[in-house]
Amino acid sequence: MTSPTVFQYRAGQLHAEDVPLSALAETAGTPFYCYSSGMIEGAYGAVVEALSGLPATVCYALKANSNLAVVRSLAKLGAGADVVSEGEMRVALAAGVPADKIVFAGVGKTREEMASGLRAGILQFNVESLPEMEALSEVAQSLGTQAPTAIRVNPDVDALTHEKISTGRAENKFGIDLAHMPGAVRRAMELPGISLQGLAVHIGSQLTDLAPYGVAFERLAGLYRDLLGQGIPLRRLDFGGGLGISYREETAPDLAAYAALVRQAAADLPAGLIFEPGRFLVGNAGVLITRVLYVKQGAARRFLIVDAAMNDLIRPSMYDAWHRIIPVAAPAPGAGEEPVDIVGPICESADTFAKQRLLPPVTAGELLAICSTGAYGAVMSSTYNSRRLAPEIMVRGKDHAIVRARPDYAALLADAPLPDWLKDDRAPTATRGVA
Ligand code: LLP
Repeated sequence: MTSPTVFQYRAGQLHAEDVPLSALAETAGTPFYCYSSGMIEGAYGAVVEALSGLPATVCYALKANSNLAVVRSLAKLGAGADVVSEGEMRVALAAGVPADKIVFAGVGKTREEMASGLRAGILQFNVESLPEMEALSEVAQSLGTQAPTAIRVNPDVDALTHEKISTGRAENKFGIDLAHMPGAVRRAMELPGISLQGLAVHIGSQLTDLAPYGVAFERLAGLYRDLLGQGIPLRRLDFGGGLGISYREETAPDLAAYAALVRQAAADLPAGLIFEPGRFLVGNAGVLITRVLYVKQGAARRFLIVDAAMNDLIRPSMYDAWHRIIPVAAPAPGAGEEPVDIVGPICESADTFAKQRLLPPVTAGELLAICSTGAYGAVMSSTYNSRRLAPEIMVRGKDHAIVRARPDYAALLADAPLPDWLKDDRAPTATRGVA
């Protein structure tokens, strides 16, 4: 079970915990992301409870939302971190995640990233190819150490999720094929800079059907058992992330049933267990608040043109993702509904959040909440169209805090020096041409 939603109407206004979102819009401007710390903590607690009794470490996958306050909220509860870049590793450390609870994953780590992970003393590197393993060994040797390493296995399991976020089939770029594992393990044992400690798997994201997990976990545990039998001293199994959430009518996977699959596969194994949930911990804990700029009646459609765009939230454009969109001011009872297209200001047809969505009548100036955007929202945003990144606000009970400020316009120009040949007498400034 996920925690109950904390985004609710009270006195006709949508609240995040005890804070009316309209008040935040007045002070922060729109668009902005708002996160509920209570919901993040609730989701983490539910995962930990389901896994209780198992030697489990929950390593939050920062890629879902690497806002420092979000990561800190989880670190304070004891979470570890799954990182895929030096940047994420630095955020995790800055948030107070102990280095020995950090797993460095990803198919293309650079040597610099490997070195910084080794210097920090992280728990393990999940390697995904032989060339990467060779590089990691060299880097570790050059630092006079060994890299604690797990091999990510590609179990060739279809996660039954969206094509673009499925990662566990043989045709995907991730992990080492089961058939190639004997050679990979042999090589890991030979390489002087590698200390082979475990196996890892991650078959995809937004899984709502648990069956593929069962198959993948059994394959991974079977291999682990074989290797132990061969005298390879493994000590950790990493079951990856991927737990889905309910965006619409999907039912989020039952955590107890998920944990039962883990127990079935690994309970008898001498192995510390790692889990890397991202979306499940933060997805439903965030909303993106946007203001309707214009209502445009086209020949065939009615458009709500809002001030958030695909640069702020790319999931609908990129994955045809469906996000619930609701007015911040509760609709009058019996207001009825009409189909509208909710679109951003960017000149691409893909800049569309919803098509033919049934909404109560909405007028220009009103606020909308795009729900379930705590995961893969702000982190996937860009400054396309030279738009500024949306700020992020965290709510806790009656309190709120800006946890990422909206950059000022000077920031758009700050890191873009002109080459000498393009300079004229006047040095470019952020405010040139703006009174
Ligand atoms: N571990 C590994 C190795 C991963 O590749 C991922 C996600 C996770 C853990 C966390 O998965 P989660 O628990 O969040 O499903 N941008 C896409 C999702 C990409 C997921 C990539 N890997 C989206 O917006 O749906």
